Amino acid sequence: SRSLNLAVIPGDGIGQEVVAQGLKVLSAVLPQDVKLETKEFDFGAKRYHATGETLTEADLDALKKHDAILLGAIGDPSVPSGVLERGFLLKLRFAFDHHVNLRPSKLLPGVATPLAGQPEIDFVVVREGTEGPYTGNGGTIRKGTEHEVATEVSVNTAFGVERVVRDAFARAQARPRKKLTLVHKNNVLTFAGHLWTNVFNKVAEEFPEVATDYIHVDAATIYLVTDPARFDVIVTDNLFGDIITDLAAAVSGGIGVAASGNINPSGEFPSMFEPVHGSAPDIAGQGKADPSATVLSVALLLRHLGHESEAARIEAAVSADLAERVGKPARSTEEIGDALAVRVAG
Ligand code: IPM
Ligand code: MN
Repeated sequence: SRSLNLAVIPGDGIGQEVVAQGLKVLSAVLPQDVKLETKEFDFGAKRYHATGETLTEADLDALKKHDAILLGAIGDPSVPSGVLERGFLLKLRFAFDHHVNLRPSKLLPGVATPLAGQPEIDFVVVREGTEGPYTGNGGTIRKGTEHEVATEVSVNTAFGVERVVRDAFARAQARPRKKLTLVHKNNVLTFAGHLWTNVFNKVAEEFPEVATDYIHVDAATIYLVTDPARFDVIVTDNLFGDIITDLAAAVSGGIGVAASGNINPSGEFPSMFEPVHGSAPDIAGQGKADPSATVLSVALLLRHLGHESEAARIEAAVSADLAERVGKPARSTEEIGDALAVRVAG
């Protein structure tokens, strides 16, 4: 019989609530012969306050033993900005070489968008996850003086860019429209921008069926609002990808339905799946959070591990649930989770 050995990190704030629903739906959708084993980890603000630790080498060793990781959200106003971001989330993404940060955007039927009309939105952003300005390469001199100087160096390697660009081409090739857009800023960032553009054009030769396109990141924010249907697959650097995927979420149903995967395609380390939203301390503990983003992240997790039909069933269930919400009173986190678990089982 098969097994799924999952590391679960509920984290802070609404992370706890939404992860519980994600696991509920996962248990409901898995075939009988797949044995689900979960191990919960207590990372986050509480552990940081109690021990001063965010993520140790021993933690990484323990996480490594799993097929995948499901994360709720990490972050709390009681912890200074940057401590958990760098000390936990980015540390984990870097340690497990999660270089493909996959963020699909699909506007599902009946879901509200701030955009005029009901545009077709169905694209996926492949955000580089281990390089760019996220590497922590920089420094400050003359700190606190009027002459303080801060640098934040963006690191781009031919190896790192090529592997994520190739992954994005393969994803575009597998989709019906077969279109890949490179988003960068090569008119100003002429060093990194040219590296990205050259690598993109070189890898394109291996994928003659994929139509290619280049857009500067500022212009991309316009098109995401005025003509999101033009996008199929987007590949971009870590910071541009961070910014445009929040915008992408905002136009395609909001942060309540935006899912993501931090993927290590080789399988050398477990991949991690998480909603794009944060811990939302303002609504934590009230049962108000929409678990759909986490449930859709579980679908990405299942697809990554080869459980395609179960992933598709979860996506169909979320889609049907969202379509039925129109005009009805809001339900609690748990009620939505229950309804989704019933749908995927039935
Ligand atoms: C995200 C978040 C993180 C990022 C932060 C919390 C480090 O915004 O997952 O998009 O910038 O990647
Ligand atoms: Mn972000």
